[in-house]
Amino acid sequence: MSCVAIIPVEVQFGMAIVVHQDAVIADAVCAPAPVRVGLLGLGNVGSAVARLSRDAAPALAARGFAPIIEAALVRSARPGRPASDAVLDLTEHPDVFFSHQLDVVIEVLGGVEPARTLVRRALDRGIPVVTANKSLVAAHGHELAAFARRRGTAFRYEASVIAGVPFLGTFERRPLVSRTDSLIGILNGTSNFILTQIARGSSFADALGEAQRRGYAEPDPSMDVSGGDAAEKLAVLIRQFGGLIVPPRRIPRTGIDVVEPQDLDAARECGGVVRPVASAAWSDARVRAFVAPAFVPHDHPLAPVAGSTNAVLLSGPSGTQCYSGPGAGPDVTAATLLDDVAEVVTEGRVRPPSPIAATAAVTCDPPATSWFVRVSDARAEAAAIADLLAAYGVLCSRVVTTAGRIYLRTFPIEPARLHEGLAAVRAATRADVVPFHALEVRC
Ligand code: HSE
Repeated sequence: MSCVAIIPVEVQFGMAIVVHQDAVIADAVCAPAPVRVGLLGLGNVGSAVARLSRDAAPALAARGFAPIIEAALVRSARPGRPASDAVLDLTEHPDVFFSHQLDVVIEVLGGVEPARTLVRRALDRGIPVVTANKSLVAAHGHELAAFARRRGTAFRYEASVIAGVPFLGTFERRPLVSRTDSLIGILNGTSNFILTQIARGSSFADALGEAQRRGYAEPDPSMDVSGGDAAEKLAVLIRQFGGLIVPPRRIPRTGIDVVEPQDLDAARECGGVVRPVASAAWSDARVRAFVAPAFVPHDHPLAPVAGSTNAVLLSGPSGTQCYSGPGAGPDVTAATLLDDVAEVVTEGRVRPPSPIAATAAVTCDPPATSWFVRVSDARAEAAAIADLLAAYGVLCSRVVTTAGRIYLRTFPIEPARLHEGLAAVRAATRADVVPFHALEVRC
């Protein structure tokens, strides 16, 4: 039998390194190496990590290690917290947390502070950090990755974007295939779930409540509904694949709360569906991006991606690659976090941290796309509105009148020119006009 012996952490000259020895030991049975995990946060995801560390022990032992949740740092260490029985020491005090000998830290606090300070403290001691916190990675991922490199340790965040599909690490190991100049995807499970449920007849409130019950939604679900969560994930991807730093607040976004149930029927009549889309393309440090509900034609790869499922299409010189799978929920997030832990403790420094340099993006504007425009309460006929738009260069490929509304699908045009045309329609007809991006089928 062949065994891999893992010595979790060794400290040399102030730097912690994970030592990995391939030792072939004939006819021996290897005991899995204990790995002492510090858990920053014990909410929905933290509790799932603690439970899974116990429940998945046989599978993890087969990879050569046995996680022990040595300590968890929480805001309130009240007795009877879920999963606290799987934690050796539950504390409210960072100094107590860091007094433990830890081989790896898993950060699932969410938000930027105190997560950033605590993650830096762990990295500064050479302790590898694994996180699912997209707010942290979007705002400080570059800084933390550079800091980890300087300290000779790892900072991993596979679970921060499409938690159940391990594509970030895959691409990190594939520098040529990963050359990418645009991406498009569905990065928020809650908003995709809500739109899918509304299309099946649910109300917005019922669908959101169900997403919360299933653990898909953020503690503040307005982050999901407004597109804020997807914008953070998109910022992570733009840095990862484009090497460009874009603060999430600079990404143009519209929430799914502008969508009316009739829009979904009209989209179907026009040959598509409405999905919560995140899109970015970059060139010369200029980014064209948006997060918004968008019309997706039936033959586009994102059209069948329903419910809480996420997907991303990455395009570059080698073509387009599609990744799709579960993106939300404590169990799937915990599984990816523990897989990251497995990589950190078994690979350690064997896989070098990503060398991608990143610079600040110069601009971040919405792209020219086709559009799907809803016109309500217009004092004009559909044909007159289409004619008026044409006078502004906005040409329609399809016009549908349904449920007292007019829907127009346009040919591609820059947002500024579209908005000039829509302003003219509003002025002439006193209509309520809402534009949605409309995707084209390219792959
Ligand atoms: N609230 C997030 C979502 C959780 O719905 O996608 C996963 O990041």
